[in-house]
Amino acid sequence: MAAGGRSVVKVPDLGDFRDVEVIEVLVGPGDDVAIETPLITLETDKATMDVPSTAAGRVVEVVVARGSRVSAGDPIVAVEEAGGEAAKESGLEQAAGPDAGTVEDGPPPSAEPDEEPGSGSAGVAGRDVQRPMARVESPGGGLAPVEESGFSTAYASPSVRRFARELGVELGKLRGSGLKGRITRDDVKAWVKSTLGAASAGAATGVGLPSVPEVDFAAFGPVEVQPLSRIQRISGPRLHASWVNVPHVTQHDEADITELEELRKGLKDTAAAAGIKLTPLAFIVRACAAVMAAFPRFNASLDPSGRNLVFKQYLHLGFAADTPNGLVVPVIRDADRKDLYEIARDLATLSAKARDGKLAAGEMQGGCFTISSLGGIGGTAFTPIINAPEVAILGVSRAQIRPVWRDGTFAPRLMLPLSLSYDHRVIDGAEAVRFTVALSEALADPRRLLEAVP
Ligand code: COA
Repeated sequence: MAAGGRSVVKVPDLGDFRDVEVIEVLVGPGDDVAIETPLITLETDKATMDVPSTAAGRVVEVVVARGSRVSAGDPIVAVEEAGGEAAKESGLEQAAGPDAGTVEDGPPPSAEPDEEPGSGSAGVAGRDVQRPMARVESPGGGLAPVEESGFSTAYASPSVRRFARELGVELGKLRGSGLKGRITRDDVKAWVKSTLGAASAGAATGVGLPSVPEVDFAAFGPVEVQPLSRIQRISGPRLHASWVNVPHVTQHDEADITELEELRKGLKDTAAAAGIKLTPLAFIVRACAAVMAAFPRFNASLDPSGRNLVFKQYLHLGFAADTPNGLVVPVIRDADRKDLYEIARDLATLSAKARDGKLAAGEMQGGCFTISSLGGIGGTAFTPIINAPEVAILGVSRAQIRPVWRDGTFAPRLMLPLSLSYDHRVIDGAEAVRFTVALSEALADPRRLLEAVP
């Protein structure tokens, strides 16, 4: 009904149906609609159908909600009309113009198991109801071809079908997230996004990524679904990007830290009295900072073209910190200009902030190289994923006393396993071993690590 420049679009004649469930509301206040824009989707036990707008303009109010029930004549939305072209009345009369089509697709098989899929014969009542509501799809009308049998049996409303057909989406391959497993417009969009993402990843790497098979875990026993943490949702794609884009090699080595541990134990209490926790990691960070000065390629990154190396004239070192919410990598600024105690203090401050979720974004940016120390927990070796666009990451596992052949006899030595993953486009294998050898030597000579930094 027109009221000044405003029209109220109502539910048209539904034949024998009343109190029909609204299973989707497709517009919201502020949306611009044209005549025929689908507004809501209704579902009877016979068919699913969209109700198109009979007015053009801006939606100012939506009267129905998902899950509510409507009958012919009930208001759906109020539309502030654009110009004089819009229909001033709503309902069957306007919708049944020359553009009004015949039945689109049939109902979902679950709704009409006896009907032939795609025949559109949703029962006489269903067909009559759909006639004014759905435009005919035109598979040959320049739209992307789809696999018809899967398409016709998929559980989706006419507007979603049309949308999917326009984009060439194989509806039969989608899982619906709507009520009773209905495929929604958002499901179609998400499918297109993920397909485009996989295609561009394939183009970038020269390979198409095969997808992991989907498994219905609940079919084999009870399951509980929990969302990933915010940190995991952010870090997951970055780890994946590094894994698929960077040719990783991991070089394993070990450092004799017998003397380092003796020295550390001797200094630990004094340091603690000054409020500093002196862990092996502080020595490792100090040693890496010292060694990297002689290995500038470890402090470089490829530029986006992949043709130039950017050598950084600063050294900010990241370290992986395990927190209740997931893995974060705080960054120690200017690690090459800090002495052992300053590094230990930074490690403690940043780890505490990480655990409390209080790291500022800037405290996790600008890293040049990362250390992932799992030594406090255990392990003998692992293959850390490079924190790209950095070009190397050092993994540290648990130090263990082992018999080492020295001076014609076995001596008990505390050996620290090192696992250096590097980007093979930037670093050669020989250079990587030289780096781990130099690092082992630096760790084996801990007094030099205690020296003040000029
Ligand atoms: N070998 C043997 N013992 C080790 C060790 C090693 N490599 N590294 C640490 N330890 C010991 C420490 O000496 C300390 O013992 P102490 O209290 O008797 O001195 C104990 O393990 C715990 O050390 P921790 O408090 O963890 O300090 P840290 O400086 O080694 O590590 C973090 C700090 C933040 C890095 C660490 O808590 C952390 O989060 N590690 C996990 C990182 C991660 O998840 N990486 C995975 C990325 S894929």
